[in-house]
Amino acid sequence: MSATPAIEVKSARRTFRTSGGLFGTAREVVAVDDVSLAVPAGSVLGIVGESGCGKSTLARLILGLLPTTAGEVLVDGQRLDGMDRRFRAELIQPVFQDPFASLNPRRRIGDIVALPLVAQGKFAGAEIGRKVAEMLERVGLASDMAGRLPAELSGGQRQRVAIARALILRPRIVVCDEPTSALDVSVQAQILNLLAELRREFNLTYLFISHNLAVVEHVATEVAVMYLGRIVEQAPTAELFHAPRHPYTRALLASVLTPEPGLGVPDVGLGDILPDPANIPPGCRFHPRCPVAIERCGSVAPPLLAAAHSRVECHLAVAGAA
Ligand SMILES: Nc1ncnc2c1ncn2[C@@H]1O[C@H](COP(=O)(O)OP(=O)(O)OP(=O)(O)O)[C@@H](O)[C@H]1O
Ligand code: SF4
Ligand SMILES: [Mg+2]
Repeated sequence: MSATPAIEVKSARRTFRTSGGLFGTAREVVAVDDVSLAVPAGSVLGIVGESGCGKSTLARLILGLLPTTAGEVLVDGQRLDGMDRRFRAELIQPVFQDPFASLNPRRRIGDIVALPLVAQGKFAGAEIGRKVAEMLERVGLASDMAGRLPAELSGGQRQRVAIARALILRPRIVVCDEPTSALDVSVQAQILNLLAELRREFNLTYLFISHNLAVVEHVATEVAVMYLGRIVEQAPTAELFHAPRHPYTRALLASVLTPEPGLGVPDVGLGDILPDPANIPPGCRFHPRCPVAIERCGSVAPPLLAAAHSRVECHLAVAGAA
């Protein structure tokens, strides 16, 4: 493993202005709030948290698809800000949830997979054809798929196309945002196995976002738990699943026992005060829902308690009681 992290996020913040408030008043949504993390090369960082906690926004900041409002992102030690798009495409690529939405319905599969190579402007036609054929075969698609349209493929086949397109430039890092959530359960395992094989073969680093905690436990080497835009706990996977320290992590893990099949959105059993990123509570942002909150939690933000491979933000963790 190289000492330079594959991904480094330094105090990243991303806000959005929306007019969705009461009577159409402008609201500022804090989607990612002072997030710092480092993903070692070759590892898989899983990101979990309820819908709207900022996972996809963080992924888009790391992909350079969205600028940060403050802070910075480094990929393979280089700042994303101002990086040439073609160079960036050789370093980091996405695989998104819905392969149907992310594939152009009018383009043939071979052209879709070839597009990143064509955009680089440095490969000859024959070389592009050979690379595309090799990559289609590598992701488990027959060569005659190249001439078909996305609508002629199954969901799993379409996700294989999206993976082939992501890997055709041999990037170092792949950001997977709910890569199997839109697929039938029977197909999900095949795609997860393929992603695992490809990671070994191409020595990839993954950022892996999923609602499905069982999937994250299976694929991730480390897990970060997000709540209202912040990472409230991060630890090696086994540690996080066996000895969660943050009360929110515990609530999320308890929700594994009552999954909603098909939806994948856990019922965290924390009552009906839903978190609102346009109205972040003072003190610990989790305090209105926290079953073990103490008085200080309502006014004082918990400090970050960081060790070499884990960290947590909770007053009780500092006191050693969480
Ligand atoms: N382009 C945008 N404009 C305005 N608000 C946005 C935009 N993108 C995201 N948000 C808001 O930022 C917050 C975080 O959204 P994000 O999509 O990152 O969450 P998420 O954790 O990926 O959720 P999910 O699990 O549902 O995919 C939400 O409140 C969302 O409404
Ligand atoms: S700081 Fe307080 S409110 Fe926040 S998670 Fe810890 S105990 Fe709960
Ligand atoms: Mg999302």
